[in-house]
Amino acid sequence: MNEFTFYNPVRLHFGKGQISALEKELPKYGDKILVVYGGGSIKRNGLYNEVMTILEKLNMKVFELSGVEPNPRVATARKGIEICKKEGIDFVLAVGGGSVIDCSKLIVAGAKIDEDPWNIVIHKIEVKDALPLGTILTIAATGSEMNAGSVITNEETMEKYGWGSPYVFPKFSILDPTYTFTLPLNQTVYGIVDMMSHVFEQYFHNATNTPVTDEMCEGVLRTVIATAPKLVNDLENYELRETILLSGTIALNTFLSMGSTGDWATHDIEHAVSAVYDIPHGGGLAILFPNWMRHNVHVNPERFAQLATRVFGVNPEGKTAEEIAHEGINRLSEFWISIGAPSRLADYKIDDSKLDLLVEKAMARPLGVFKVLQAEDVRKILEMSL
Ligand code: NZQ
Ligand code: ZN
Repeated sequence: MNEFTFYNPVRLHFGKGQISALEKELPKYGDKILVVYGGGSIKRNGLYNEVMTILEKLNMKVFELSGVEPNPRVATARKGIEICKKEGIDFVLAVGGGSVIDCSKLIVAGAKIDEDPWNIVIHKIEVKDALPLGTILTIAATGSEMNAGSVITNEETMEKYGWGSPYVFPKFSILDPTYTFTLPLNQTVYGIVDMMSHVFEQYFHNATNTPVTDEMCEGVLRTVIATAPKLVNDLENYELRETILLSGTIALNTFLSMGSTGDWATHDIEHAVSAVYDIPHGGGLAILFPNWMRHNVHVNPERFAQLATRVFGVNPEGKTAEEIAHEGINRLSEFWISIGAPSRLADYKIDDSKLDLLVEKAMARPLGVFKVLQAEDVRKILEMSL
Protein backbone atom coordinates (compact mmCIF):
# COMPACT_ATOMS: atom_id res chain seq x y z
CA MET A 1 0.00 0.00 0.00
CA ASN A 2 0.98 3.64 -0.37
CA GLU A 3 1.06 5.79 2.74
CA PHE A 4 -2.21 7.62 3.18
CA THR A 5 -4.19 10.04 5.32
CA PHE A 6 -7.91 9.44 5.38
CA TYR A 7 -10.52 12.08 6.14
CA ASN A 8 -14.26 11.91 5.61
CA PRO A 9 -16.48 13.92 7.96
CA VAL A 10 -19.88 13.34 6.29
CA ARG A 11 -22.64 12.24 8.64
CA LEU A 12 -24.95 9.81 6.84
CA HIS A 13 -28.58 9.40 7.78
CA PHE A 14 -29.58 6.27 5.89
CA GLY A 15 -33.01 4.60 5.65
CA LYS A 16 -36.72 5.18 5.48
CA GLY A 17 -37.93 8.32 7.24
CA GLN A 18 -34.48 9.73 7.87
CA ILE A 19 -35.62 13.09 6.55
CA SER A 20 -36.60 13.78 10.15
CA ALA A 21 -32.86 14.27 10.79
CA LEU A 22 -33.25 17.70 9.15
CA GLU A 23 -34.90 18.89 12.35
CA LYS A 24 -31.77 18.11 14.36
CA GLU A 25 -29.24 19.13 11.73
CA LEU A 26 -30.48 22.45 10.37
CA PRO A 27 -30.93 24.65 13.46
CA LYS A 28 -27.15 24.45 14.04
CA TYR A 29 -26.44 26.63 11.03
CA GLY A 30 -28.77 29.65 11.09
CA ASP A 31 -32.15 30.32 9.52
CA LYS A 32 -31.46 31.46 5.94
CA ILE A 33 -31.44 28.43 3.73
CA LEU A 34 -30.99 28.00 -0.02
CA VAL A 35 -32.68 24.87 -1.35
CA VAL A 36 -31.13 23.70 -4.64
CA TYR A 37 -32.86 21.20 -6.90
CA GLY A 38 -33.12 20.01 -10.49
CA GLY A 39 -35.71 19.95 -13.22
CA GLY A 40 -38.72 19.06 -11.11
CA SER A 41 -38.54 15.37 -10.18
CA ILE A 42 -38.70 16.29 -6.47
CA LYS A 43 -41.90 18.25 -7.06
CA ARG A 44 -43.48 15.35 -8.93
CA ASN A 45 -42.65 12.75 -6.27
CA GLY A 46 -43.59 14.78 -3.22
CA LEU A 47 -40.13 15.22 -1.71
CA TYR A 48 -40.20 18.98 -2.28
CA ASN A 49 -43.36 19.31 -0.18
CA GLU A 50 -41.91 17.13 2.55
CA VAL A 51 -38.78 19.28 2.75
CA MET A 52 -40.72 22.55 2.71
CA THR A 53 -43.04 21.37 5.49
CA ILE A 54 -40.04 20.70 7.72
CA LEU A 55 -38.38 24.03 6.84
CA GLU A 56 -41.61 25.84 7.66
CA LYS A 57 -41.84 24.06 10.98
CA LEU A 58 -38.28 25.18 11.73
CA ASN A 59 -39.16 28.77 10.79
CA MET A 60 -36.46 28.90 8.13
CA LYS A 61 -36.29 31.71 5.61
CA VAL A 62 -36.25 29.72 2.43
CA PHE A 63 -34.68 30.70 -0.92
CA GLU A 64 -34.71 28.41 -3.93
CA LEU A 65 -32.55 27.63 -6.94
CA SER A 66 -34.29 25.23 -9.31
CA GLY A 67 -33.41 23.90 -12.73
CA VAL A 68 -29.95 22.49 -12.10
CA GLU A 69 -29.21 20.52 -15.26
CA PRO A 70 -27.84 16.99 -15.52
CA ASN A 71 -24.16 17.80 -16.26
CA PRO A 72 -24.57 20.97 -14.18
CA ARG A 73 -23.49 24.25 -15.69
CA VAL A 74 -21.24 26.85 -14.14
CA ALA A 75 -23.83 29.45 -15.19
CA THR A 76 -26.36 27.82 -12.83
CA ALA A 77 -23.87 27.79 -9.97
CA ARG A 78 -23.29 31.51 -10.58
CA LYS A 79 -27.02 32.14 -10.00
CA GLY A 80 -26.85 30.26 -6.71
CA ILE A 81 -23.76 32.15 -5.61
CA GLU A 82 -25.50 35.43 -6.32
CA ILE A 83 -28.43 34.45 -4.10
CA CYS A 84 -26.06 33.39 -1.32
CA LYS A 85 -24.19 36.68 -1.40
CA LYS A 86 -27.24 38.89 -1.80
CA GLU A 87 -29.36 37.22 0.85
CA GLY A 88 -26.65 36.25 3.32
CA ILE A 89 -27.49 32.56 3.10
CA ASP A 90 -26.40 30.45 6.12
CA PHE A 91 -26.84 26.97 4.69
CA VAL A 92 -27.31 25.27 1.32
CA LEU A 93 -29.49 22.18 1.06
CA ALA A 94 -29.09 20.16 -2.16
CA VAL A 95 -32.09 17.95 -2.93
CA GLY A 96 -31.52 15.70 -5.91
CA GLY A 97 -28.87 13.72 -7.74
CA GLY A 98 -25.15 14.15 -8.25
CA SER A 99 -25.69 17.12 -10.54
CA VAL A 100 -27.63 19.08 -7.92
CA ILE A 101 -25.07 18.20 -5.25
CA ASP A 102 -22.09 19.06 -7.46
CA CYS A 103 -23.61 22.40 -8.42
CA SER A 104 -24.28 23.11 -4.75
CA LYS A 105 -20.66 22.34 -3.89
CA LEU A 106 -19.54 25.03 -6.31
CA ILE A 107 -22.16 27.40 -4.88
CA VAL A 108 -20.96 26.97 -1.29
CA ALA A 109 -17.33 27.49 -2.30
CA GLY A 110 -18.09 30.27 -4.79
CA ALA A 111 -20.08 32.18 -2.17
CA LYS A 112 -16.83 32.80 -0.33
CA ILE A 113 -14.82 34.32 -3.18
CA ASP A 114 -15.07 37.48 -5.26
CA GLU A 115 -13.77 35.90 -8.48
CA ASP A 116 -15.74 33.85 -10.98
CA PRO A 117 -16.38 30.26 -9.73
CA TRP A 118 -15.03 28.70 -12.95
CA ASN A 119 -11.60 29.62 -11.56
CA ILE A 120 -12.22 27.07 -8.81
CA VAL A 121 -13.09 24.36 -11.32
CA ILE A 122 -9.94 24.98 -13.37
CA HIS A 123 -7.82 25.08 -10.22
CA LYS A 124 -6.88 28.74 -10.62
CA ILE A 125 -8.21 29.52 -7.16
CA GLU A 126 -7.74 27.28 -4.15
CA VAL A 127 -10.85 26.89 -2.01
CA LYS A 128 -10.17 28.15 1.50
CA ASP A 129 -13.69 28.35 2.89
CA ALA A 130 -17.27 27.40 2.05
CA LEU A 131 -20.80 27.74 3.35
CA PRO A 132 -22.09 24.61 5.08
CA LEU A 133 -23.88 22.15 2.78
CA GLY A 134 -26.32 19.29 3.39
CA THR A 135 -27.82 16.88 0.87
CA ILE A 136 -30.90 14.75 0.35
CA LEU A 137 -29.98 12.24 -2.33
CA THR A 138 -32.49 10.99 -4.90
CA ILE A 139 -30.32 8.82 -7.17
CA ALA A 140 -27.72 6.17 -6.42
CA ALA A 141 -24.80 6.96 -8.69
CA THR A 142 -22.03 9.45 -8.06
CA GLY A 143 -21.14 9.17 -4.37
CA SER A 144 -21.11 12.98 -4.31
CA GLU A 145 -23.22 12.79 -1.15
CA MET A 146 -20.20 11.46 0.75
CA ASN A 147 -17.20 12.89 -1.04
CA ALA A 148 -15.54 16.23 -1.63
CA GLY A 149 -15.65 16.15 -5.42
CA SER A 150 -17.78 18.01 -7.96
CA VAL A 151 -17.97 17.95 -11.75
CA ILE A 152 -19.01 21.12 -13.57
CA THR A 153 -19.64 21.95 -17.22
CA ASN A 154 -18.85 25.22 -18.95
CA GLU A 155 -21.26 25.27 -21.84
CA GLU A 156 -19.60 28.18 -23.62
CA THR A 157 -16.19 26.56 -23.82
CA MET A 158 -17.49 22.97 -24.00
CA GLU A 159 -15.41 21.94 -21.00
CA LYS A 160 -16.36 19.61 -18.17
CA TYR A 161 -13.96 19.09 -15.28
CA GLY A 162 -13.86 17.65 -11.82
CA TRP A 163 -12.54 19.60 -8.86
CA GLY A 164 -12.65 19.03 -5.14
CA SER A 165 -11.95 20.49 -1.74
CA PRO A 166 -12.35 19.22 1.82
CA TYR A 167 -14.35 22.40 2.52
CA VAL A 168 -17.24 21.15 0.38
CA PHE A 169 -17.81 17.81 2.07
CA PRO A 170 -21.50 17.81 2.98
CA LYS A 171 -22.06 18.24 6.72
CA PHE A 172 -24.69 15.53 6.41
CA SER A 173 -26.47 13.52 3.75
CA ILE A 174 -29.89 11.95 3.98
CA LEU A 175 -30.30 8.75 1.98
CA ASP A 176 -33.82 7.33 1.98
CA PRO A 177 -34.23 4.51 -0.57
CA THR A 178 -37.89 5.40 -1.07
CA TYR A 179 -36.81 8.70 -2.67
CA THR A 180 -35.18 6.68 -5.44
CA PHE A 181 -38.38 4.72 -6.29
CA THR A 182 -39.39 7.23 -8.98
CA LEU A 183 -36.05 7.14 -10.73
CA PRO A 184 -36.77 5.92 -14.27
CA LEU A 185 -35.19 2.76 -15.64
CA ASN A 186 -32.58 4.52 -17.79
CA GLN A 187 -31.31 6.73 -14.95
CA THR A 188 -31.29 3.73 -12.62
CA VAL A 189 -29.06 1.90 -15.10
CA TYR A 190 -26.75 4.89 -15.61
CA GLY A 191 -26.31 5.10 -11.86
CA ILE A 192 -25.44 1.41 -11.63
CA VAL A 193 -22.87 1.74 -14.42
CA ASP A 194 -21.41 4.84 -12.78
CA MET A 195 -20.94 3.24 -9.36
CA MET A 196 -19.37 0.13 -10.88
CA SER A 197 -17.07 2.38 -12.90
CA HIS A 198 -16.00 4.18 -9.73
CA VAL A 199 -14.94 0.86 -8.29
CA PHE A 200 -13.01 -0.01 -11.46
CA GLU A 201 -11.23 3.35 -11.46
CA GLN A 202 -9.98 2.63 -7.95
CA TYR A 203 -9.30 -1.06 -8.53
CA PHE A 204 -6.86 -0.33 -11.33
CA HIS A 205 -3.89 1.18 -9.51
CA ASN A 206 -0.20 0.47 -9.27
CA ALA A 207 0.11 -0.08 -5.52
CA THR A 208 1.03 -3.53 -4.22
CA ASN A 209 -0.35 -5.48 -1.26
CA THR A 210 -3.91 -4.13 -1.27
CA PRO A 211 -5.91 -7.25 -0.29
CA VAL A 212 -8.35 -5.35 1.94
CA THR A 213 -9.41 -2.80 -0.66
CA ASP A 214 -9.31 -5.45 -3.41
CA GLU A 215 -11.84 -7.52 -1.51
CA MET A 216 -13.93 -4.45 -0.68
CA CYS A 217 -14.03 -3.46 -4.37
CA GLU A 218 -14.85 -6.98 -5.47
CA GLY A 219 -17.56 -7.27 -2.79
CA VAL A 220 -19.27 -4.08 -3.92
CA LEU A 221 -19.12 -5.19 -7.56
CA ARG A 222 -20.50 -8.67 -6.82
CA THR A 223 -23.31 -7.12 -4.77
CA VAL A 224 -24.27 -4.68 -7.53
CA ILE A 225 -24.10 -7.44 -10.17
CA ALA A 226 -26.39 -9.65 -8.08
CA THR A 227 -28.85 -6.84 -7.35
CA ALA A 228 -29.09 -4.81 -10.56
CA PRO A 229 -30.87 -7.38 -12.79
CA LYS A 230 -33.61 -7.75 -10.17
CA LEU A 231 -33.91 -4.00 -9.62
CA VAL A 232 -34.39 -3.15 -13.30
CA ASN A 233 -37.50 -5.33 -13.23
CA ASP A 234 -38.75 -4.13 -9.86
CA LEU A 235 -38.01 -0.42 -9.55
CA GLU A 236 -39.98 0.15 -6.35
CA ASN A 237 -38.47 -2.71 -4.37
CA TYR A 238 -37.21 -1.19 -1.11
CA GLU A 239 -34.52 -3.74 -0.36
CA LEU A 240 -33.05 -3.64 -3.86
CA ARG A 241 -33.06 0.18 -3.90
CA GLU A 242 -31.48 0.16 -0.43
CA THR A 243 -28.65 -2.14 -1.53
CA ILE A 244 -27.90 -0.10 -4.64
CA LEU A 245 -28.08 3.18 -2.72
CA LEU A 246 -25.46 2.12 -0.19
CA SER A 247 -23.33 0.57 -2.96
CA GLY A 248 -23.22 3.92 -4.76
CA THR A 249 -22.05 5.72 -1.64
CA ILE A 250 -19.39 3.14 -0.73
CA ALA A 251 -18.17 3.10 -4.34
CA LEU A 252 -17.00 6.70 -4.13
CA ASN A 253 -16.63 7.84 -0.53
CA THR A 254 -12.89 7.12 -0.99
CA PHE A 255 -12.79 4.15 1.38
CA LEU A 256 -11.87 2.00 -1.62
CA SER A 257 -8.77 4.01 -2.42
CA MET A 258 -7.12 3.79 0.98
CA GLY A 259 -3.50 3.01 0.20
CA SER A 260 -3.67 3.45 -3.56
CA THR A 261 -4.26 6.02 -6.28
CA GLY A 262 -6.94 5.21 -8.81
CA ASP A 263 -6.71 5.71 -12.55
CA TRP A 264 -9.73 7.89 -13.53
CA ALA A 265 -8.74 8.24 -17.21
CA THR A 266 -12.03 6.72 -18.40
CA HIS A 267 -13.90 9.31 -16.36
CA ASP A 268 -11.86 12.10 -17.88
CA ILE A 269 -12.50 10.80 -21.39
CA GLU A 270 -16.22 10.50 -20.61
CA HIS A 271 -16.30 14.04 -19.28
CA ALA A 272 -14.85 15.20 -22.60
CA VAL A 273 -17.58 13.31 -24.48
CA SER A 274 -20.31 14.74 -22.19
CA ALA A 275 -18.83 18.23 -22.56
CA VAL A 276 -19.15 18.08 -26.34
CA TYR A 277 -22.31 15.97 -26.71
CA ASP A 278 -24.13 16.43 -23.35
CA ILE A 279 -24.81 12.71 -22.90
CA PRO A 280 -25.55 11.08 -19.51
CA HIS A 281 -22.35 10.30 -17.61
CA GLY A 282 -23.26 6.67 -16.87
CA GLY A 283 -24.21 6.04 -20.49
CA GLY A 284 -20.83 7.31 -21.65
CA LEU A 285 -18.99 5.15 -19.14
CA ALA A 286 -20.86 2.01 -20.23
CA ILE A 287 -19.52 2.57 -23.73
CA LEU A 288 -15.96 3.59 -22.86
CA PHE A 289 -14.94 1.48 -19.89
CA PRO A 290 -14.82 -1.96 -21.52
CA ASN A 291 -12.67 -0.42 -24.27
CA TRP A 292 -10.33 1.29 -21.83
CA MET A 293 -9.93 -2.16 -20.25
CA ARG A 294 -9.29 -3.94 -23.56
CA HIS A 295 -6.73 -1.31 -24.51
CA ASN A 296 -4.87 -1.69 -21.21
CA VAL A 297 -4.97 -5.40 -20.39
CA HIS A 298 -1.27 -5.66 -21.24
CA VAL A 299 -0.35 -3.23 -18.43
CA ASN A 300 -1.14 -5.83 -15.76
CA PRO A 301 -3.00 -8.87 -17.13
CA GLU A 302 -2.99 -10.57 -13.70
CA ARG A 303 -4.99 -7.71 -12.18
CA PHE A 304 -7.63 -7.95 -14.90
CA ALA A 305 -7.65 -11.75 -14.50
CA GLN A 306 -8.22 -11.38 -10.74
CA LEU A 307 -11.25 -9.21 -11.47
CA ALA A 308 -12.50 -11.67 -14.08
CA THR A 309 -12.30 -14.71 -11.81
CA ARG A 310 -13.40 -13.15 -8.54
CA VAL A 311 -16.18 -10.89 -9.84
CA PHE A 312 -17.29 -12.26 -13.20
CA GLY A 313 -16.86 -15.95 -12.37
CA VAL A 314 -14.52 -16.70 -15.27
CA ASN A 315 -13.06 -20.21 -15.10
CA PRO A 316 -9.29 -19.72 -15.34
CA GLU A 317 -8.38 -23.33 -16.14
CA GLY A 318 -6.04 -23.76 -19.08
CA LYS A 319 -6.12 -20.05 -20.00
CA THR A 320 -3.49 -17.33 -19.97
CA ALA A 321 -4.01 -14.26 -17.78
CA GLU A 322 -4.76 -12.23 -20.91
CA GLU A 323 -7.41 -14.70 -22.07
CA ILE A 324 -9.05 -14.70 -18.65
CA ALA A 325 -8.90 -10.89 -18.59
CA HIS A 326 -10.63 -10.55 -21.97
CA GLU A 327 -13.32 -13.04 -21.00
CA GLY A 328 -14.01 -10.95 -17.89
CA ILE A 329 -14.22 -7.73 -19.87
CA ASN A 330 -16.64 -9.34 -22.34
CA ARG A 331 -18.80 -10.49 -19.43
CA LEU A 332 -18.84 -6.95 -18.03
CA SER A 333 -19.90 -5.62 -21.40
CA GLU A 334 -22.63 -8.26 -21.73
CA PHE A 335 -23.81 -7.52 -18.21
CA TRP A 336 -24.22 -3.82 -18.88
CA ILE A 337 -26.03 -4.49 -22.15
CA SER A 338 -28.31 -7.00 -20.35
CA ILE A 339 -29.54 -4.32 -17.93
CA GLY A 340 -30.15 -1.85 -20.75
CA ALA A 341 -26.99 0.27 -20.90
CA PRO A 342 -25.69 1.59 -24.24
CA SER A 343 -22.56 -0.02 -25.70
CA ARG A 344 -21.56 2.18 -28.65
CA LEU A 345 -21.18 5.91 -29.20
CA ALA A 346 -23.48 5.36 -32.16
CA ASP A 347 -26.25 4.69 -29.62
CA TYR A 348 -26.05 8.45 -28.96
CA LYS A 349 -25.64 9.19 -32.68
CA ILE A 350 -22.00 10.12 -32.11
CA ASP A 351 -19.74 9.40 -35.09
CA ASP A 352 -16.08 10.11 -35.76
CA SER A 353 -16.62 13.67 -37.02
CA LYS A 354 -15.44 15.33 -33.78
CA LEU A 355 -12.82 12.79 -32.77
CA ASP A 356 -10.01 15.36 -32.82
CA LEU A 357 -11.97 17.68 -30.57
CA LEU A 358 -12.79 14.87 -28.13
CA VAL A 359 -9.14 13.85 -27.94
CA GLU A 360 -8.10 17.46 -27.40
CA LYS A 361 -10.67 17.96 -24.63
CA ALA A 362 -9.72 14.70 -22.90
CA MET A 363 -6.00 15.58 -23.04
CA ALA A 364 -6.54 18.96 -21.34
CA ARG A 365 -5.36 17.40 -18.09
CA PRO A 366 -2.87 14.54 -17.43
CA LEU A 367 -4.72 11.31 -18.02
CA GLY A 368 -4.49 8.11 -16.00
CA VAL A 369 -2.31 6.64 -13.27
CA PHE A 370 -2.50 2.87 -13.72
CA LYS A 371 -1.74 3.68 -17.34
CA VAL A 372 -0.81 7.20 -18.36
CA LEU A 373 -2.59 7.79 -21.66
CA GLN A 374 -1.31 9.73 -24.64
CA ALA A 375 -3.47 11.30 -27.34
CA GLU A 376 -3.12 8.20 -29.54
CA ASP A 377 -4.41 5.96 -26.71
CA VAL A 378 -7.47 8.18 -26.25
CA ARG A 379 -8.12 8.17 -29.98
CA LYS A 380 -7.87 4.36 -30.08
CA ILE A 381 -10.27 3.94 -27.14
CA LEU A 382 -12.76 6.32 -28.78
CA GLU A 383 -12.43 4.55 -32.12
CA MET A 384 -13.07 1.20 -30.44
CA SER A 385 -16.21 2.77 -28.93
CA LEU A 386 -17.77 4.21 -32.12
O1 NZQ B 1 -33.42 17.25 -12.56
P1 NZQ B 1 -34.46 16.33 -12.00
O2 NZQ B 1 -35.83 16.69 -12.41
O3 NZQ B 1 -34.33 16.14 -10.53
O4 NZQ B 1 -34.22 14.89 -12.72
C1 NZQ B 1 -33.03 14.15 -12.58
C2 NZQ B 1 -32.15 14.19 -13.82
O5 NZQ B 1 -32.90 14.40 -14.97
C3 NZQ B 1 -33.41 12.70 -12.50
N1 NZQ B 1 -33.70 12.23 -11.15
C4 NZQ B 1 -32.86 12.27 -10.09
N2 NZQ B 1 -33.47 11.68 -9.03
C5 NZQ B 1 -34.71 11.31 -9.45
C6 NZQ B 1 -34.86 11.68 -10.80
N3 NZQ B 1 -35.98 11.42 -11.51
C7 NZQ B 1 -36.99 10.82 -10.85
N4 NZQ B 1 -36.90 10.41 -9.57
C8 NZQ B 1 -35.78 10.64 -8.83
N5 NZQ B 1 -35.71 10.19 -7.56
O6 NZQ B 1 -32.26 11.99 -12.96
C9 NZQ B 1 -31.58 12.78 -13.92
C10 NZQ B 1 -30.10 12.69 -13.69
O7 NZQ B 1 -29.75 13.31 -12.49
P2 NZQ B 1 -28.22 13.65 -12.20
O8 NZQ B 1 -28.14 14.33 -10.88
O9 NZQ B 1 -27.61 14.31 -13.36
O10 NZQ B 1 -27.56 12.18 -12.10
P3 NZQ B 1 -26.27 11.68 -11.39
O11 NZQ B 1 -26.47 11.55 -9.93
O12 NZQ B 1 -25.88 10.48 -12.14
O13 NZQ B 1 -25.19 12.85 -11.60
C11 NZQ B 1 -24.44 12.95 -12.78
C12 NZQ B 1 -23.45 14.07 -12.67
O14 NZQ B 1 -22.48 13.81 -11.64
C13 NZQ B 1 -21.15 13.86 -12.17
C14 NZQ B 1 -21.36 13.46 -13.60
O15 NZQ B 1 -20.28 13.81 -14.41
C15 NZQ B 1 -22.63 14.21 -13.96
O16 NZQ B 1 -22.36 15.56 -14.22
N6 NZQ B 1 -20.26 13.05 -11.34
C16 NZQ B 1 -19.98 13.48 -10.10
C17 NZQ B 1 -19.09 12.83 -9.26
C18 NZQ B 1 -18.81 13.31 -7.90
N7 NZQ B 1 -19.24 14.48 -7.54
O17 NZQ B 1 -18.15 12.64 -7.12
C19 NZQ B 1 -18.38 11.64 -9.70
C20 NZQ B 1 -18.98 11.01 -10.91
O18 NZQ B 1 -18.01 10.22 -11.51
C21 NZQ B 1 -19.57 11.93 -11.91
O19 NZQ B 1 -18.60 12.39 -12.82
ZN1 ZN C 1 -18.68 8.65 -12.41
